[in-house]
Amino acid sequence: MRAFYRSTMLCLMVVALAGCFGPKTVREFADKNKLHYGVSVQAADVLDPAAIALITENFNILVPENTMKWGIIRPNRTFWNWSDMDNMVAFAKKNKMIMKGHTFVWHQQNAPFVNALKTREDAIAVLEEQISVVMTRYKGKIAEYDVANEVLEEDGSMRKTIWLKTIGDDYLDIAFKAARKADPKAKLILNDFNNENMGNPKADAFYELVKSLMQRNVPIDGVGFQMHLMGMYPVQEEDVRANVARFRELGLTVSFSEIDVRVKLPMTPEREEEQIAAYTKLMEIVQTEPNVDSFIMWGYTDKMSWIPQVFPGFGFAHLYDWDVKPKPVYEAIKKMIVEP
Ligand code: XIL
Repeated sequence: MRAFYRSTMLCLMVVALAGCFGPKTVREFADKNKLHYGVSVQAADVLDPAAIALITENFNILVPENTMKWGIIRPNRTFWNWSDMDNMVAFAKKNKMIMKGHTFVWHQQNAPFVNALKTREDAIAVLEEQISVVMTRYKGKIAEYDVANEVLEEDGSMRKTIWLKTIGDDYLDIAFKAARKADPKAKLILNDFNNENMGNPKADAFYELVKSLMQRNVPIDGVGFQMHLMGMYPVQEEDVRANVARFRELGLTVSFSEIDVRVKLPMTPEREEEQIAAYTKLMEIVQTEPNVDSFIMWGYTDKMSWIPQVFPGFGFAHLYDWDVKPKPVYEAIKKMIVEP
């Protein structure tokens, strides 16, 4: 009887200890399941106690939504605006989160002096300097970067950006090589939108572009599918999986890098169901495709969303509502992370 009592007590203690040390928060479950589950954040988020609590309880990878963009971090050629980025990087380190950088080559939110570049030599000098200064400063602290963002037009041709106009066809070669040189351990990513469905002209051109970069030995480690989706169009699962598979054959990872699912206003229960279906389908793909390594959302709350400004008539795109309260879609994603 005493032996029975002792072994029962022992069992109860083991169960209690497992309860103490096992994962509790969504973030801890994501860590346990090696899921990179993250979000873009504003500079002020890492200074605000309520936002800090929300971020640290949920996510293990962070991206600056705007803070590292050229016009903000280097508004003119000689002035570097480090404080917000330094804060964010320190915050990620303190909380043992992965930090992702975003972005060097882009056609938006550039500093005026970038848009005024005229010659190939000057443009190369400025681009290489940007990449090397930022990546050297954050060496070992920022693990991966969107080296270039949105370089294709919808028809699959190269976007007519300042970089294409001044430098020419090899500007991506130059950017990725400068990034590898500045921090050889950082993961280097080419990011875009509307590039997730195999068979779509832009997605196919994106794949061909990546393949040609690799054939020329341009150092690239992964691609990003932004996934700014609309709830009314279901995720084209087969096309996404086929696309992911061809990048796997190239030896590359895919991150779902800027997920949000916007809903046409007014919000209805049916539209909310469509949104939940899209978010959970993306999570299902991340959890089942071995080379899809990240589920990163573009913002966490409707309150701070970029959507209404850019897509009038749409909203409700994120996991938390206008009062920063979790929505049913939050619970659906949480369930998938806690019970994968
Ligand atoms: C957006 C930000 O969310 C906004 O705050 C900003 O005003 C404009 O840029 N694709 C990208 C992101 O790669 O950098 C964009 O972020 C959204 C679309």
